[in-house]
Amino acid sequence: MHNDTERVLLTEQEIAARVRQLGEEISRDYAGKEPLVVGILKGAVIFMADLVRCLSIPVRMDFMAVSSYGASSQSSGVVRILKDLEHNIGGMDVLLVEDIVDTGLTLNYLRENLLTRGPASLKICTLLDKPGRRRVNVPVDYNGFIIPDEFVVGYGLDYNGRYRHLRDIMILKREVYTAKEDNENCPADDGS
Ligand code: PRP
Ligand code: MN
Ligand code: MG
Repeated sequence: MHNDTERVLLTEQEIAARVRQLGEEISRDYAGKEPLVVGILKGAVIFMADLVRCLSIPVRMDFMAVSSYGASSQSSGVVRILKDLEHNIGGMDVLLVEDIVDTGLTLNYLRENLLTRGPASLKICTLLDKPGRRRVNVPVDYNGFIIPDEFVVGYGLDYNGRYRHLRDIMILKREVYTAKEDNENCPADDGS
């Protein structure tokens, strides 16, 4: 177990089993179609990589990069598009893939933005849902796990750019992020 983590919330095996189920459900729902799977960098990359390999339908992949958190564990509420899609999604079936819906600000912004581009359909798939912190309601079509209000890292989820590579989803020790935020001299966000 990683030194900065309190305990494992979801093991690699639990995640893999649930991702397979989501893959089957999505494959059934999109039978006969070829959706564009859109991953939101960077948090969604590991989930998306596993999810698309659990699908039995053809897909195309694209990515957007947005950031709302910066160097804090709190959402700033400001969403910035750092990288846009390469596809014109007009008329396409789009499946947005996210690692987590927390306040909902990121997905709400992305959903409204993508809807203005005229997709044939737009659905949302998140691995984790933390309903305790929701500030805006977002319709989530596929969700892996509902989790408690704890700061989690691993399987793509970071704190200050770290821990994304951990295979399990773990709860971060409170002292790791409180110590950082009490320190006014902490380095500025480097885009992580
Ligand atoms: C995190 C996470 C989601 C979003 C969820 O991304 O990956 O995209 O925040 O929070 P919300 O529901 O409160 O908006 P972050 O901005 O940290 O960027 P990252 O994916 O590059 O880590
Ligand atoms: Mn993210
Ligand atoms: Mg992050």
